[in-house]
Amino acid sequence: MPAHRPAEPDILRYYTDVFAEADRLHRTPQGRLEFTRTKELLARVLPDAPATVLDIGGGPGVYAGWLAAAGYRVHLLDLVPAHATAARQDHPAVSAGVADARRLPLSGGCADATLLLGPLYHLTDEADRVAALREAARVTRPGGPVVAAAISRSAALVDLTRQGRIDARTRPAVLAAYASGVNDPETGFTTAYFHRPEQLVAEFTAAGLPAPRLYGIEGPLWPLLDALGVQPTERLFTDALDCARVVESDPSVLGSSGHLLAVAVA
Ligand SMILES: C[S@@+](CC[C@H](N)C(=O)[O-])C[C@H]1O[C@@H](n2cnc3c(N)ncnc32)[C@H](O)[C@@H]1O
Repeated sequence: MPAHRPAEPDILRYYTDVFAEADRLHRTPQGRLEFTRTKELLARVLPDAPATVLDIGGGPGVYAGWLAAAGYRVHLLDLVPAHATAARQDHPAVSAGVADARRLPLSGGCADATLLLGPLYHLTDEADRVAALREAARVTRPGGPVVAAAISRSAALVDLTRQGRIDARTRPAVLAAYASGVNDPETGFTTAYFHRPEQLVAEFTAAGLPAPRLYGIEGPLWPLLDALGVQPTERLFTDALDCARVVESDPSVLGSSGHLLAVAVA
């Protein structure tokens, strides 16, 4: 098995001491849009319950808890021990432990479906992202879906712009991240990678998976929802959601979503 560099320590620090991940998908309209859309896409592509779902990089278990409540057997693994502990405490039906997505302590074909909703956007080396996808493919039974989320290449530039946080100091780093895909944690977030849609396809195929089907998760209107700290009207939220559904597979609009979802069958 190839040796990998250890995960960046700032990822552990960020999720343990800095950022409250457990309510990320509930506390802002953008988060609620991401959660609503990801759940409806998962409901479309996962096998019926009770199937065994691995949630790799599952954080404190927001999706895992939802899936367990729907009758799935869910096993969550995450790099951050505090997340695995929170997942066990908040979602007793979910089994949870600590592991790196690039080296899973699991036997081949043990899952009916595998989620990677996080690791791909925290691994800045392509070889590491491909290793995580290869591991997801290995632990998924033939015919089961591998589902991976990515952050879009333009998302940080767009989000920092709408927050008014691009200035003479931050602009060079934000533009460099837009050019390379590698985030500079000085401008916010943590060690992270931002994908173009075609890179996700290339990484799946490099991992031995078929070319994935790509979906834009939030659609192009997501930056409006948290603009200027003003709550969007219910009408704007539902219209943004509807717009995301309409354009979800349009290749010319994919990258305008904050996140992409890629789905391929192992
Ligand atoms: C933004 S959170 C997403 C959590 C959850 N999957 C969701 O979509 O809401 C990203 C998660 O990926 C985890 N992660 C990052 N790199 C990882 C790796 N190499 N192996 C396993 N988990 C990783 C982080 O610890 C974190 O919990």
